Amino acid sequence: MNDVFLAGPEASDYPRINDYFNRAYRHDPEAFSLEFELLRQQHAAFNSLQSIAGYCCAKPYGYAGDFGLIDRLYMHYIGDGDTIARWDAFAQAQPAAVAVRNRKAYFINLMAERMPARVLNVASGPARDVLEFYAKWPQAPVTVDCLEYDGQAIRYAQSLLEGNARVRFTQQNILTWKAEGAYPLVWSSGLFDYFSDAVFVRVLRKLLLCVAPGGTLVIGNFSDENPNRAFMEVGMQWFLHHRSPTRLAVLAREAGAGDWKPEVHCEPAGVNLFLHLHRPATAI
Ligand SMILES: C[S@@+](CC[C@H](N)C(=O)[O-])C[C@H]1O[C@@H](n2cnc3c(N)ncnc32)[C@H](O)[C@@H]1O
Repeated sequence: MNDVFLAGPEASDYPRINDYFNRAYRHDPEAFSLEFELLRQQHAAFNSLQSIAGYCCAKPYGYAGDFGLIDRLYMHYIGDGDTIARWDAFAQAQPAAVAVRNRKAYFINLMAERMPARVLNVASGPARDVLEFYAKWPQAPVTVDCLEYDGQAIRYAQSLLEGNARVRFTQQNILTWKAEGAYPLVWSSGLFDYFSDAVFVRVLRKLLLCVAPGGTLVIGNFSDENPNRAFMEVGMQWFLHHRSPTRLAVLAREAGAGDWKPEVHCEPAGVNLFLHLHRPATAI
């Protein structure tokens, strides 16, 4: 294994690498994490900002899953240098990275199907999903209100969107934001899987208030069947609250959306789940 770590894996090594992470983590999570920290210090692919795993671990903006990392996944970034490039190719080929790219497509398809007049996009990050939606549907009669906590994410997204007047940004923490608006579609991906169950329910309750009668709320959350959890947690230091479809439906009920016809879908990799809630058309 040490040779593979030093040189970086070829595609034929991927099953062995996954097996190594999954087995060692399952066997003794604490011991494996400690052992891996020693490996990390020796390998640029796990400690350099130029690599996917190193960047995620270093958290240059103070949290995992920042706009820079998510956009690297969207853009299929591969860092320079043979070893980093091989490890980045590994990271990008994993179902978790594929799922992130798939959720962008999921958003674009959802928007195209519904063409909602107004959308609330909570925790918009790089907003590449919004950018690509308008690139595909330049005449779409849709405005998107992006609510995002990180001012640097907002500036990055604005630079991508180049002054698209149909997209507005508000810098707010969803935990303290006062719910307002009545949107036919409320969307949030890559946020709720950072929340404990208690915070999930609290924020969901708030977002339910923003859905127009007959409208839909969609929340993304990584599945508890994510096969890359060990690599993410040990290799990338990226921890999420993974959840099952049943758990998502239970949390929806706890938030008061039991009669909003909870449905859980997923993207083709089966890693990113989407909880759909439909607000009854009549007043509740
Ligand atoms: C993993 S990214 C997801 C970005 C985007 N939704 C996507 O799927 O491409 C998570 C984003 O949530 C934002 N965020 C985290 N906590 C937040 C909070 N309490 N309120 C608003 N935004 C938050 C972060 O700043 C980050 O940009």
